[in-house]
Amino acid sequence: MSAAMPRTVCWSETAAGPVVRLIDQTLLPGQLVIKDCRQLDEVCEAIRSLRVRGAPAIGCAAALAVALAVHRSVADTTEELINVVGHAARELAATRPTAVNLFWALERMQQVAEQSSDFGPDEFRAALLQAAEEVVADDLERCRRIGQYGAELIPDGANVLTHCNAGALATAGYGTALGVIRAAHEQGKQIHVWVDETRPLLQGARLTAWELQQEGIACTLICDSAAASLMRAGRVDCVVVGADRIAANGDTANKIGTYPVAIAAGRHQVPFYVAAPCSTVDFSLPSGDEIPIEERGPEEVTYIAGRLAQPICPAEVNIFNPAFDVTPAELITAIITEAGVAVQPLASSLAELSSEPFSSLSAPESSS
Ligand code: MRU
Repeated sequence: MSAAMPRTVCWSETAAGPVVRLIDQTLLPGQLVIKDCRQLDEVCEAIRSLRVRGAPAIGCAAALAVALAVHRSVADTTEELINVVGHAARELAATRPTAVNLFWALERMQQVAEQSSDFGPDEFRAALLQAAEEVVADDLERCRRIGQYGAELIPDGANVLTHCNAGALATAGYGTALGVIRAAHEQGKQIHVWVDETRPLLQGARLTAWELQQEGIACTLICDSAAASLMRAGRVDCVVVGADRIAANGDTANKIGTYPVAIAAGRHQVPFYVAAPCSTVDFSLPSGDEIPIEERGPEEVTYIAGRLAQPICPAEVNIFNPAFDVTPAELITAIITEAGVAVQPLASSLAELSSEPFSSLSAPESSS
């Protein structure tokens, strides 16, 4: 994200006490509004309503929200504060089911709470805040490394297609899929991005196109249905998307509409890359069939971007609104992580890369 841009989600001390501060992404690109969440409930609402969204950013918001809950609590024993952590983790875990980074971050916070059980209340609060800040800093660093590995795969002059928003807005900063594009651009490569609008909530049109414009990266917005014919015409050199959860065999859940893009890419021999931190891999799930897919409300489909005044369909028509789909591993050319690029067969390659220690943070035993 450019220097002038506020952070996607962070901790802030205000006159009214500590807050989790975030960009309200539901208002972009029309308005860049910062929202201060003073209580756990407000962060839960922000995650549910996609004010903060994107798998890594949800994980960061959840870690900060646990720290917020203990800082806002009037409890004066560490035992009570440990209960506050448990309650916060349960509330946050119920917000959105698909992105595994949320559960990963909550386990990390609960782990730190257990390890800090001998501390006094003030030290305990400080330890939880430090852990949350580390989750955020760690994500930013992972995105930068993903960018470095991924940029090697993007030729100079490439037309890259992306779906949804896996940019700075979806992470602590820099982005995963957009991190790869950003790094290639920073290396001086001429890159042009085809941006899928991403119905129903238009994360591509509203967020990715906006981010790319801020960075001065050439892009063209298309309707989701235009992607396949562009590939057929030879106008797409590769696809790069993010991920919400990757099963042990490499099957990847990402925003609804990703799977059709992968099918079209396979049909036209266009490389299809997934960019995600190792914390997005859920080794407890053997395949994508076990990934829980969030179903969201009908108003996201009946109204454009969930908010235009006029519905686009007759009243009371049946609506089905799955927020994610699963792309089978066989359609994925490679998965770009902070530890390197996992290639086919993805199962063994992912396991090997994820066993490399990255930083002070290591993935908990199970992640959901
Ligand atoms: O419903 P959203 O907007 O949270 O969905 C986001 C996506 O599907 C992203 O592609 C994914 O989380 C990767 S973000 C780096």
